[in-house]
Amino acid sequence: MRTRNQLDIYGDFSDFYDLYVGDWLEDLPFYLEYAKQVQTPILEVGAGSGRLTIPLARTGASVIAVDSSSSMLAILRSRLDKEPIEVRERIQLVHSDICSLLLEDRHELIVVPFYTFNYFLTPEIQKSALERFAQHLAPQGRVLIDVFLPLSRIQRCPAEPVLKVDTVDAATGNNVRGWNIYSIDKVRQIEIRRHVFKVTGKDGTVLERDFTTQRRYFYPSELESLFADCGFSVEAAFTGYEKKEADDDSEQLLYLLRQKASG
Ligand SMILES: C[S@@+](CC[C@H](N)C(=O)[O-])C[C@H]1O[C@@H](n2cnc3c(N)ncnc32)[C@H](O)[C@@H]1O
Repeated sequence: MRTRNQLDIYGDFSDFYDLYVGDWLEDLPFYLEYAKQVQTPILEVGAGSGRLTIPLARTGASVIAVDSSSSMLAILRSRLDKEPIEVRERIQLVHSDICSLLLEDRHELIVVPFYTFNYFLTPEIQKSALERFAQHLAPQGRVLIDVFLPLSRIQRCPAEPVLKVDTVDAATGNNVRGWNIYSIDKVRQIEIRRHVFKVTGKDGTVLERDFTTQRRYFYPSELESLFADCGFSVEAAFTGYEKKEADDDSEQLLYLLRQKASG
């Protein structure tokens, strides 16, 4: 049985997520290319605080934004409040674990951006998520999945904390510094990230937050077997949002999947 903590794995991270990713949007043109080709709303799995959701909707795409984290969706909701009505109307928020998602409509495009699939830690969750994708996919629809494979950290995990954030939070004026402390469980193929954030207020008070997230990393062959077992064929695989051909050193993979013809 999954605990509440597993369901909202972003409960702690949500306070820092937008500062952590900053204004990174390198993947937007990649998703826009596919978004333009569809007539139905896009189903975005793990929409989080709307980093991609809102820019997609600003270009005219409709998005069903699914996430299991109430705190991430609360941020998305507050960001949406500042958007024009026509953008707000294009986005529907759904608070659900992907493994129990049950919507009426089927979608021509399902996107699973920015390593969300890596948060599906067990084979049961991965299979159940892929079943839900199949259930919500229109005939001839496609699924885009962005996964990472931290080859360099698997080979040599940094012993020291890695500084990831050093910024001033515009909303509060606080200085926020954040470090990742990595470890790799090679048996379970899990990268464990301990996050340490130090928030220094304008009056000099310091608050420290310390929490851990886990991500399952996948080698291409096992991922492709998993997709095939769940009824998907790989239409294309790339590395990088400029769609380069992947090789043995690729630390990120983008899969474009279709459902295999039955029978
Ligand atoms: C790396 S963040 C990506 C957020 C956003 N898509 C972006 O690109 O910035 C992963 C998101 O997936 C969500 N998530 C993880 N497991 C999930 C699950 N089983 N069902 C639905 N959402 C999930 C997390 O709550 C988090 O918001």
